[in-house]
Amino acid sequence: MPSALQQSRTDHVPVLAAEVRELLAVRPGDTVVDATFGAGGHARVLAADLHGEGRFIAIDRDPGVRPYFERFQREARVSARLLRGDFAVVLGQLAENGVRADAVLLDLGVSSMQIDRPERGFSYAVDAPLDMRMDPAADVSARDIVNEWDERELATIFRRYGEERFSRQIARAIVRRRSERPIERTAELVETIKAAIPAPRRFGDGHPAKRVFQALRIAVNDELAALEQALPAALSMLRPGGRLAVISFHSLEDRIVKRFLAAQARGCTCPPDLPVCVCGKEPAVRLLARKAVRPSPQETAENPRSASARLRAAVKTED
Ligand SMILES: C[S@@+](CC[C@H](N)C(=O)[O-])C[C@H]1O[C@@H](n2cnc3c(N)ncnc32)[C@H](O)[C@@H]1O
Repeated sequence: MPSALQQSRTDHVPVLAAEVRELLAVRPGDTVVDATFGAGGHARVLAADLHGEGRFIAIDRDPGVRPYFERFQREARVSARLLRGDFAVVLGQLAENGVRADAVLLDLGVSSMQIDRPERGFSYAVDAPLDMRMDPAADVSARDIVNEWDERELATIFRRYGEERFSRQIARAIVRRRSERPIERTAELVETIKAAIPAPRRFGDGHPAKRVFQALRIAVNDELAALEQALPAALSMLRPGGRLAVISFHSLEDRIVKRFLAAQARGCTCPPDLPVCVCGKEPAVRLLARKAVRPSPQETAENPRSASARLRAAVKTED
């Protein structure tokens, strides 16, 4: 097993780092919350702008980030702490406890270290136990879902979270195969998916197992619900003038972020036929970019993982 600090293949290259830095505009003395610490790539960039003054709060549900955090703590020259847990819960607790932030970052999804560690079972490219839990102590793993959910539920997540066209055929094939013996490993699942997709369509749209693996990962980690819950919590812990930036990697996440920020940026919500505003609602945020920020062709060439990234950001309005 690679050591957590091993360089090279397992190192996570922060996506859209310059753009995040510019949009969050961290200043000395600020309180910065990185709700998806990972290997600390963004954290290092943002902490540098504190110039030794301020506070850094790191959150991650994966205990494997600790050695990265310890290295960050040694190098960052600011007060930093790591809170382990689901950001949906931790951000809410921080807000309830009166912690106020000047910048909050969410860089969603899994990190390269998680994908590159075969034993975590995130990758369809290597054979490993079916797991996919970001928090290895969480109750539900991919193995549980694949072997216990009924055919309709499986087809629904493959379609909804993976936009998989052959969701029903794949769900049926899984149920048939697991009736002989449980599906324990990623390679068995990949084989079952491949066999369920008609041969001419198998490699039309990337690896045939890509969409089902994405869907399972989202379901295992309840990623969309966590995001829905985290956004209002992040906003409520921001000081007026504080900034929120979110990087998403697929359209389901981006849609949630886009809708949330658009709703918060809207003022009056009265029906258009009312002659005067009766709701008195003021915008809670101002969008920092009208459209999602995308990586440059150069970044995509250097770091193919960035290709699907979309960054949205907003500043909390003054009360
Ligand atoms: C894309 S990586 C972040 C990489 C990081 N920005 C960097 O530059 O190294 C996402 C990280 O967020 C964590 N994560 C994802 N969803 C989470 C959640 N709901 N609560 C806490 N951590 C989460 C994952 O465990 C992973 O380490």
